Order: sequence, then structure tokens, then C-alpha cells
Amino acid sequence: MEPPVILERGRNSYLVEKFEGELHTHHGIIKLEELKGKNYGDIVRTHLGVKYRIVPFSPSDFFRFFRRSATPVMPKDIGAVIAYSALSPDSLILDAGTGSGMVAAYLAYFNKYGEVVTVERRREFARVARQNFRTAGLKNIHQIVGDVRFVADGFKKEFDLIFLDMKDDAEFVGKAKEILRSGGHLAVYNPYIEATKRVYEEMVKHGFFGVESFELVKIDLEFKRVGTRPTSPIFHTGYITIGRKV
Ligand SMILES: C[S@@+](CC[C@H](N)C(=O)[O-])C[C@H]1O[C@@H](n2cnc3c(N)ncnc32)[C@H](O)[C@@H]1O
Repeated sequence: MEPPVILERGRNSYLVEKFEGELHTHHGIIKLEELKGKNYGDIVRTHLGVKYRIVPFSPSDFFRFFRRSATPVMPKDIGAVIAYSALSPDSLILDAGTGSGMVAAYLAYFNKYGEVVTVERRREFARVARQNFRTAGLKNIHQIVGDVRFVADGFKKEFDLIFLDMKDDAEFVGKAKEILRSGGHLAVYNPYIEATKRVYEEMVKHGFFGVESFELVKIDLEFKRVGTRPTSPIFHTGYITIGRKV
């Protein structure tokens, strides 16, 4: 068993990236050297005797454990982009802006034989994302620090998928079309309806095919003895606009 692993007890969980030093939990201190030689499913105890179970870290944990800079896109929305763009695992993808790197990480994970180029204009956010990519063990991500509106002039290859989650998205639609391969998808994520409408109209104006804007709503359920009901604290996340270059 190699790090990273998760130590879990009910609602409390911790990501462990090195088997050295101490972890201060809600229930006392765990000496992380004790994880060496253990297996997934084994138990470790805090100095107070409280048990934590060792669970493998997997891509389904990115959202829970990635360090945050800018607000990340939620897995439900990333899943929709993957399905609606029919992502194949050998794609060349452009992601802008990187933010916390959530989208870049999931796209890289599902694009095993391809590459993700991710562009972020804030150096400190790029640094946080780089740490997340390292935690996730992803090697097919190329990070660029800069403004994608200028950086894009230097791209020599055509992209299969471009994903935008940034301020100047509508202004970038024309450039995105230039650097997409024919049949490639442009997907844009935006939390506001007005901005989404601007992107939609720009994509139609630039001749994208099958353009649609939508929102996905994930409703979590709470099962109690008295009955079951929705509990989701977050209802609205953002709108996705997606279309193909023809
Ligand atoms: C909401 S965050 C992206 C979150 C990211 N999609 C994720 O899931 O972690 C938007 C990011 O875009 C960056 N950004 C805004 N305009 C940009 C531009 N023109 N070029 C590059 N990055 C830009 C911001 O600095 C910010 O980090």
C-alpha cells in the first residue's frame, strides 16, 4: 500500500500523502509511520484509542480532497461535459482557467492516452492546481501560466475538446473555433444565465453545430426513520453550453 490513502471514520476523513509525521484528527493523534506495512481496510488508532479505517484514494475523491483556490466545478457537471462531448481517451484537450484544477484532473483521468493543456493566469492558483495534480498522480497535464486569450495564438495543434470556465468566455468563442479540429467540441461553464446566453449566442453566430445550454441538478437524499427527503445544501451550480465545430 502506497500513499495517498484516506483515513476515514464516519463523517471524518483525512487525506494522507506521506507515511511520516503526525496527523491531528478530531479524535486524537495518529502516528503516520504506523501505516507502513498495513493494507486497505485495516484499522489504525489515535493516541486516544479511536479507530480510523484505511481506504484507497481514488479519482472519485478529487472533489473532497483537492486543495481549493477558485471555486471548482462539481463532478456532476464534469460528468456531463465528458458524456456530451463523447470524450475519447486519446484526446487533446484545452482547459481554461485551471482554477483548482478539478476539471483538468477529471478530464486527464478519463483521457488516459491523450493530453490536457490547462491555462491559468494567476500563478498562485496554478501552484495549488499543480499540487492537486501531483496528489492525483496525473502526468498527462501540461500547465501554462498566462492569459489564454494570448497564449492560444501559440498553439500549433488542433484540440478535440475545449473547456472554458473563466471570465472572458464569450469573447474567446471565435478563437476557440479556430483552434478546434473539425467535429471537436467547445463546452463552456458559467454560473450566470446572462453570461450563458452571451456564450450561446456567440457560438451560434460562429456557426457551431447543435449548440445547447442546460443545467443539471443533483438532489441528495437523506434516509431517516421518519422518512426520506432531499437534503442538498447546494441547488444551483452552473450552466453548461456545448456545441460542435463543423
Ligand atoms: C472558476 S475558476 C475555474 C475553476 C476550474 N474549472 C476548476 O474546476 O477547478 C476560473 C479561473 O479562470 C482564471 N481565468 C480567468 N480568466 C482567464 C484567462 N483569460 N486566462 C486564463 N485564466 C483565466 C481565473 O484566474 C480562475 O482561476
